[in-house]
Amino acid sequence: MAKVLATINLKGGVGKTTVTAALAEIMSAKFGQKVLLIDLDSQINLTTMMISEDDWLELNRTGRTLATAFRDAVEGTSTFDIQEAIQHRVSPVRKVTSVDLLASSLDLIELQEQISALRVRLGTPDAAMYILRDAIAPVIDYYDYVLIDCPPNVGPITRNGLAVADGYIMPTIPDVLSTYGIPQLQKVVREFSEVIGRRIVELGLVITKYKANSAIHKTTVRNLRRDPTIQNVLPVYLNESNQIAAAAEFRELGTLKGKYGTQGQYDQLEDITRQIMTEAESKL
Ligand SMILES: Nc1ncnc2c1ncn2[C@@H]1O[C@H](COP(=O)(O)OP(=O)(O)OP(=O)(O)O)[C@@H](O)[C@H]1O
Ligand SMILES: [Mg+2]
Repeated sequence: MAKVLATINLKGGVGKTTVTAALAEIMSAKFGQKVLLIDLDSQINLTTMMISEDDWLELNRTGRTLATAFRDAVEGTSTFDIQEAIQHRVSPVRKVTSVDLLASSLDLIELQEQISALRVRLGTPDAAMYILRDAIAPVIDYYDYVLIDCPPNVGPITRNGLAVADGYIMPTIPDVLSTYGIPQLQKVVREFSEVIGRRIVELGLVITKYKANSAIHKTTVRNLRRDPTIQNVLPVYLNESNQIAAAAEFRELGTLKGKYGTQGQYDQLEDITRQIMTEAESKL
């Protein structure tokens, strides 16, 4: 059975997509896992980290993105074909051989509104909640991990991600503004768990863009570690690094060290991946 993890934070730009991409690539290249990446964000950042923009344009033109699954739900059609939509062996890194992708689309922006309307129209709160779950049901057992990159909100599309997730991770920059929304997010997930009648386990906070020489970062991390409402702050932090920022660009590379950095950046990401897998294996 695949373990399904959602990457989520209400704050934008905290490294959700970067961490999700690296997790998938390292799970594949280092730990031999079969991974399905699902991009739920209409910004399509994860998608364009994993496939070229030309390939995305073609997928989008031919309706092979998640937008088709959501549009089917809104329009009552059934045109989405999961086998056609899944892109196999994505990632520009040669060593990564077992990551597949369900791509996102800018069309999700409009669809988000229509899915909200669908919920009202059908009159049941869960009418529009299981679109993603149903869409991936035929393939989910093939994977060891399904990683869902969520947009920085808890709208109806993110809820579709949560409705299929066994656990969630929260990347965060250790500053006041980035950590401010954590209690709200935990509350939303808790309440949503009750609605679906199933636990969604908080696996941990991933500290991102860490600056060891920043007093604010040090203090914030210390406070987060002492906070009894936070389940688990992963002990390895991801430093702020130009090379990690550059890794967002789709560029063919041989190895993950070459992509993320040989000055400790890749090693941090590998440790974070190992810790998340350990958490997932013990708690899910
Ligand atoms: N450790 C890091 N060091 C430097 N830059 C980083 C790091 N992690 C991410 N970035 C850069 O910061 C920006 C935001 O990162 P990312 O897109 O991963 O965040 P996000 O939380 O997914 O954002 P959004 O909420 O918009 O989806 C990107 O340009 C990314 O390349
Ligand atoms: Mg993102």
